[in-house]
Amino acid sequence: MRIVLGVGGGIAAYKVASLLRLFTEAGHDVTVIPTEAATRFVGVATWEALSGNPVTNSVFDDVDQVKHVRLGHEADLIVVAPATADLLARAATGQASDLLTNTLLMASGPVLFAPAMHTEMWQHAATQANVETLRSRGVTVLEPASGRLTGSDSGPGRLPEPEAIFEAAIALMQDTGVPAHLPLAGRTVTISAGGTREPLDPVRFLGNRSSGKQGVALAAAARDAGATVRLVAAHMEVPAPAGVELIAVETALQLREVMLAAAAESDVVIMAAAVADFRPAEVSGSKIKKRDDTADPVITLVRNPDILHELVGVRDAAGSSQLVVGFAAETGDEQGDVLSYAEAKLKRKGCDLLVVNHVGADKVFGQDNNSVVILSRAGAEPQSASGSKQDVAAIVIDRVASELSRVFPRT
Ligand code: CTP
Repeated sequence: MRIVLGVGGGIAAYKVASLLRLFTEAGHDVTVIPTEAATRFVGVATWEALSGNPVTNSVFDDVDQVKHVRLGHEADLIVVAPATADLLARAATGQASDLLTNTLLMASGPVLFAPAMHTEMWQHAATQANVETLRSRGVTVLEPASGRLTGSDSGPGRLPEPEAIFEAAIALMQDTGVPAHLPLAGRTVTISAGGTREPLDPVRFLGNRSSGKQGVALAAAARDAGATVRLVAAHMEVPAPAGVELIAVETALQLREVMLAAAAESDVVIMAAAVADFRPAEVSGSKIKKRDDTADPVITLVRNPDILHELVGVRDAAGSSQLVVGFAAETGDEQGDVLSYAEAKLKRKGCDLLVVNHVGADKVFGQDNNSVVILSRAGAEPQSASGSKQDVAAIVIDRVASELSRVFPRT
């Protein structure tokens, strides 16, 4: 989920680094907006390094992007910690004096304040009135913890512990229908997509009808589930989604090399690419010409390696708990139907899940909808999924997440 973490100018700002950690480890994408005063306690570089996102507190940076509008609108949750007396006052009176207060005015999702200040400031009628106002508008303002404060004083006014703020934030997201746990947080998923092209000469190739739409939808679904995603793309007719690492390849041999390297660092490997089983035995360095004085050319093909099978072999040899998912394009014929061919393919390939498509010239390839059956090596009942390629991708990624947590629980 996208979280904006507003940091106020109080000594407790340093504790918010742990809160940021808790959010990022749970797979959330956090943008930190410190106030000017907050940067006197903890520098911008710390927030950038811990969040992995750029940090500013000025509405005049990147003006063209209208940051406060985008951040406020897009945030699934805004958390302000430590919420100083000044920040509570500015928020309660709707001031827009810096990027954080601008963003708060643009917020469309839940907002949580975790106050921290001296007891007298917290108990002051002005602060209490501001808290009341904010709460009356549906904002969650936590009670500060009690205990030792910055000086020799003690009493209510301590910032609640980062774990307590994190739990309150998760509960608030759940109450407002925002999913708080991302099922693939902390996982790396490598997905191949598109159709390989096997060159004949500098201008011609043997290709296939794959558009890459299903692989791209899978990459977006895995990203939305919190995974770090690598998309290994052969020829695709659609752009790669934002927020995933894209590695472009052309041939099956290139795809094999990149997949083997990427798989070594992945929790999940999904082979959604349509890989050419054969390639021309010889690739002409110059354009093959038609000539009247010679016979028509004959193209000899040689087998490409079976990448999926090899990935499973490498995984098994390493004794790793990686989950390997294959796709099967089947047409069925007089010797067997789609499912019987798919079951044989699942055994042959050895992958954990096989997502089976029924294909034909007008079915699946390039279309926006898809209908699949998910077979499992462990022998679970076949699971059907249909709808848009995005719907199918979400179901496949859900299944991947549940297989991962069942068979290979997080250590
Ligand atoms: N695949 C692969 N390497 C190949 C061919 C296919 O890794 N050389 C992968 C595909 O990405 C897919 C799965 O294997 O995940 C099944 O692909 P499919 O084309 O349905 O099967 P084939 O192996 O080509 O088998 P057949 O020709 O018998 O249909």
